Amino acid sequence: MAYAAFRSIGAYAPSKVLSNDDLAKMVDTSDEWITKRTGIKERRIAANDEFTSDMGVKAARLAIERSGLDKSQIDMIICATISPDYFCMPSTATIISTKLGLGNITAFDISAACTGFVYTLSIAKAFIESGMKKNVLLIGAEKLSSITDYSDRGTCILFGDGAGAAVISTTDNKEEAIIDIHTGSDGEFADLLMSPNGGSGSAHDALEQEATSCYMQMKGNETFKVAVKTLTKDVIEILKENNIQASDVKHFVPHQANLRIIKAVGDALKLDDKQVVLTVEKYGNTSGASIPMAINDIYESGRLQDGELMLLDAFGGGLTWGSALVPFSPVKK
Ligand code: ACO
Repeated sequence: MAYAAFRSIGAYAPSKVLSNDDLAKMVDTSDEWITKRTGIKERRIAANDEFTSDMGVKAARLAIERSGLDKSQIDMIICATISPDYFCMPSTATIISTKLGLGNITAFDISAACTGFVYTLSIAKAFIESGMKKNVLLIGAEKLSSITDYSDRGTCILFGDGAGAAVISTTDNKEEAIIDIHTGSDGEFADLLMSPNGGSGSAHDALEQEATSCYMQMKGNETFKVAVKTLTKDVIEILKENNIQASDVKHFVPHQANLRIIKAVGDALKLDDKQVVLTVEKYGNTSGASIPMAINDIYESGRLQDGELMLLDAFGGGLTWGSALVPFSPVKK
């Protein structure tokens, strides 16, 4: 039986910092309000000529190097993004694949907003367990600054840019395997968080098209309530179904949307503060990149050790949600 092992992680954050004080000069807000309501102090912003694919490439190089594989062994690449280099085509995954020189491998994007990385993980697991692929490169990369309305204080304070990547490989050792992944969605709540313009769903006269923006719009408070409820329910279920106690989880890695959401879920699971991974303060919400960037944070700071169990938990536009029980299983040297 082929199992899927989470072998390595990498991430990249652009150097430009946008602080709460910077935002207070752009919209009617303050460092105090943003810190109290979200826990965010600053976020990173990509350069004008730095695309989602460029950030994805930097994160992916690290993940491949740390996996111990030669890049020629990667046989599929999936990119989770809602801010692709180009809407429609080509996919950001194909651009990243070519920039990395991965050859003519399977490459595609998926759109599941902030749950994107958990969705890619479930796809990689299925491909590997079925024997169709052996080493899958996953990327969550976002240039959210390109779809953020910097005149809307309800959203612009939340989002930032960055990328994370992971390599998932086949193993016959069940001890190393990803234990379980849940994914779900409910389009009934689509209007809570959406980019209403720019697609075939936005009414416009095809012959008199105006330039449309893909800015995100969000009903923040309603989204907040659904997020807490959904994230909590999802992790309780995945733990119960796999007969795992919350205390057995070494690292709870939630989507980094809002410190208050993360705290509410952590409290519901009775998690200790040191189990909860937090990067929201320095990166804000980087959507599909947020979970792999957070895993990379504990990896690079030496907190993530071989074999330790991670519980991933994500929620985002769609609405979509997902959770995963993932031991960190680098190749033994
Ligand atoms: N600065 C100052 N005041 C503000 C700001 C701001 N940046 N934004 C809103 N306010 C005001 C509002 O106008 C409102 O004023 P009023 O009481 O006079 O009407 C007041 O603050 C309260 O507004 P709420 O929207 O109720 O504030 P809330 O506490 O809910 O915080 C926030 C807003 C931070 C957006 C929060 O709702 C949130 O984090 N929501 C969830 C986001 C999320 O998880 N999204 C899903 C993932 S993202 C993805 O998938 C891409």
